[in-house]
Amino acid sequence: MPNDAQIKLDGKEISYPIITGSEGEKAIDLRKLRADTGYIAYDQGYGNTGSCESAITYLDGDNGILRHRGYPIEQLAEQSDFVETAYLIIYGELPNQKQRLSIGRLLRQNAAIDTQMLRIFEGFPREAPPMGMLTSIVSSMAAYYPHLATNNFEKDLANFDLTAAMAISKIRTIVAGIYRYRHGLPFNYPKDIPFCDNFLHLMFSEPYQEYALIPEVTRALNLILLLHADHEQNCSTSTVRMVGSSGANLFTSLAAGICALSGPLHGGANSAVMQMLQSIHDEGDDGTRFIAAAKSGAKGNRLMGFGHAVYRNYDPRARIIGHACDVVLNKLGKTDPLLDIAKRLEHSALNDEYFLARKLYPNVDFYSGIIMRALGIPTELFTTMFAIGRSPGWIANWKEVASNPKGRIYRPRQVYVGPVKRDYVLIGKRT
Ligand code: CMC
Repeated sequence: MPNDAQIKLDGKEISYPIITGSEGEKAIDLRKLRADTGYIAYDQGYGNTGSCESAITYLDGDNGILRHRGYPIEQLAEQSDFVETAYLIIYGELPNQKQRLSIGRLLRQNAAIDTQMLRIFEGFPREAPPMGMLTSIVSSMAAYYPHLATNNFEKDLANFDLTAAMAISKIRTIVAGIYRYRHGLPFNYPKDIPFCDNFLHLMFSEPYQEYALIPEVTRALNLILLLHADHEQNCSTSTVRMVGSSGANLFTSLAAGICALSGPLHGGANSAVMQMLQSIHDEGDDGTRFIAAAKSGAKGNRLMGFGHAVYRNYDPRARIIGHACDVVLNKLGKTDPLLDIAKRLEHSALNDEYFLARKLYPNVDFYSGIIMRALGIPTELFTTMFAIGRSPGWIANWKEVASNPKGRIYRPRQVYVGPVKRDYVLIGKRT
């Protein structure tokens, strides 16, 4: 196996080291390319660029493999829960009993938000998009807890355990608060109960009636959050790393990640899937129209919940959620016509030459909305649920950036294609 790669340019031959990851992934270290040759590597959208070394998540898109800190997603989904997986992702090991108790306690102790923050909610129109509210409110945490958000890595890392627990716990509380606010319902205070139960209480308890917890619902919520917990260098995680690389504190970096997540090609896809399935249902169509539109090639017409920037195989999370849909609906004694439509749509797409040739399979968003709907979570909140789930991954990635002694600010280059030098024209002389 070669130790380096030779590049021949302008008559010169230069060697660049090959880096090999722990799972055998190979990369050419091109950091000196521009200094050596004057050329940069062009890779629009970074699809072929390794922006960092990371020890958190391994993803093999060709073979549909996803592992966090070495543990297969299938095993975590089967045997772990959201808080334990969050701990694993952030700290690198599964917690022992003492650590598990301690993280649970820290999350419960830091579940409430500063009561003054409620005024931020009140500044929003009732119909404000939840992701817009979430970014602003999470961003405000840097102002409410400035001692944890100093924009100095050393100081911020000294308080990391607390800051990380606050971020995960309060993002969950804020999402439930957004739901209560948008529906004109009184806010609920968090209780001294486990993370997912607390979310359900924050969402659904009423002054006249406590939410009655159902173990199947708690389990399904744990599964949904766990399956979203990290996914290596996706758009929002790379955004968190980029913002963090400037020295920005964790809360500010997370707010940036939530902005990135809001787009329909990323976290916004889960609600778009439900809208698509609902339209098929309302129109009494069998999905043919959506499949035909998706095949037209227009970006706005994609089959939502299908395809992935990295997977060229079945997204393992989609397989787990697809199976869980049946189990959860069954246990809750519910049926959902949208699940039948989704299954038919998947079957049609997976037998269609267009999707086969492009290796387009269902992704995590294809079935997740159906479970969330069964749990009573409204579609408008789906992307904010993704944000709760992804918070451990963002936090772990921020920590890698902040604690890397050799880290530098993320600053890609570009190939400039604008006008060449020209002289300023006075306004009266412009055409
Ligand atoms: N429907 C129809 N055609 C598609 C789709 C789709 N969902 N996805 C990709 N294609 C086509 C694409 O137009 C291209 O066709 P051609 O070769 O003829 O130009 C080909 O498949 C290859 O596309 P790609 O380069 O693999 O796609 P990409 O990396 O640019 O985009 C994606 C990845 C996830 C943005 C895209 O698949 C998509 O828009 N999917 C629908 C939105 C969605 O479900 N997003 C959630 C992603 S998973 C969770 C997350 O990251 O948040």
